[in-house]
Amino acid sequence: MASSFGAYPPPYLLLCTVFYLSFTLICDCTSMSEASDNITLDSLRDSLEKQEDFIVFSLIERARYPLDSPAYGHSSCPGRQSCSFAELFVRTTEEIEAKFGRYQNPEEVPFFSNYLPSSPPGLIPSFKFPQVLYPKAASVNVSRTIWEVYFNDLLPQFTTKGDDGNYQQAVASDLICLQALSKRIHLGRFVAEVKYRSSPQDYNPSIRSKDLKTLTELVTSEQVEAMVVKRVKKKAEVFGQDVTLDSNGNQTTYKVDPLFVSNLYKKWVIPLTKQVEVNYLLRRLG
Ligand SMILES: *[C@@H]1O[C@H](CO)[C@@H](O)[C@H](O)[C@H]1NC(C)=O
Ligand SMILES: *[C@@H]1O[C@H](CO)[C@@H](O)[C@H](O)[C@H]1NC(C)=O
Ligand SMILES: *[C@@H]1O[C@H](CO)[C@@H](O)[C@H](O)[C@H]1NC(C)=O
Repeated sequence: MASSFGAYPPPYLLLCTVFYLSFTLICDCTSMSEASDNITLDSLRDSLEKQEDFIVFSLIERARYPLDSPAYGHSSCPGRQSCSFAELFVRTTEEIEAKFGRYQNPEEVPFFSNYLPSSPPGLIPSFKFPQVLYPKAASVNVSRTIWEVYFNDLLPQFTTKGDDGNYQQAVASDLICLQALSKRIHLGRFVAEVKYRSSPQDYNPSIRSKDLKTLTELVTSEQVEAMVVKRVKKKAEVFGQDVTLDSNGNQTTYKVDPLFVSNLYKKWVIPLTKQVEVNYLLRRLG
């Protein structure tokens, strides 16, 4: 292929390719649709574990840009009240992705479902995804909370202050982070379904009495949670390490603070996943 860059691609193009490939590969293996007809807690945990890689890579990618706060301030959206550039970008992208069938997959939850076309997409051949979720509980989601926590709390913590004008790139990386977090957290619906099916008798009394405390205890496994938090910290250390050829460097620096990543899981990802599980269970007998 002719290139205006000369005979060899410049290093940053190679880097982009490597990044793109890692994203694509990870994206592919995070899908559990194939396993869904025979879904087990182990297969789900496996899928959740692979999604950690994607979440860490997404955060690293977003951290390349500074905060770029003008992208989140209110500007005018066409034909309606004010919304931010980020919101407009996410809504528009979701509309396009919906046309190509993204939300036909029950694992995917849009942030702005009320703007999406109600008819199924005609552009792609339809695929019958296994129906694992209990229909009356399938729409349980915490998308609003993920959105607010991400922009108000998380983003300023893992980006540097500043404005480099790369708003489109910044919000495109935000969307990847948001979708990765959303998919991970909303897999809680599948986890809850599998746990429920394995022993409905354990859950039914608390579901009937709407006992949130007991339901939360039932879906909690402190040992697994502690392991996850430890593992994501390690992944952030390994994937986000700045690589130099200078062996004198005696200080390791990271693209995203590993402690931030473990706290993200401990304080947000795990509790929100459990909130999804509990809300799902509450509708399981409906
Ligand atoms: C589901 O998985 C279990 C254990 O791996 C296996 O014994 C069973 O045959 C599978 N069922 C189906 C329908 O594939
Ligand atoms: C998410 O929840 C909100 C409020 O409960 C609901 O209006 C919306 O339709 C849900 N989204 C999806 C994709 O089901
Ligand atoms: C790196 O090592 C040198 C020499 O051993 C030391 O003087 C310096 O303080 C170290 N730097 C850091 C940041 O630890």
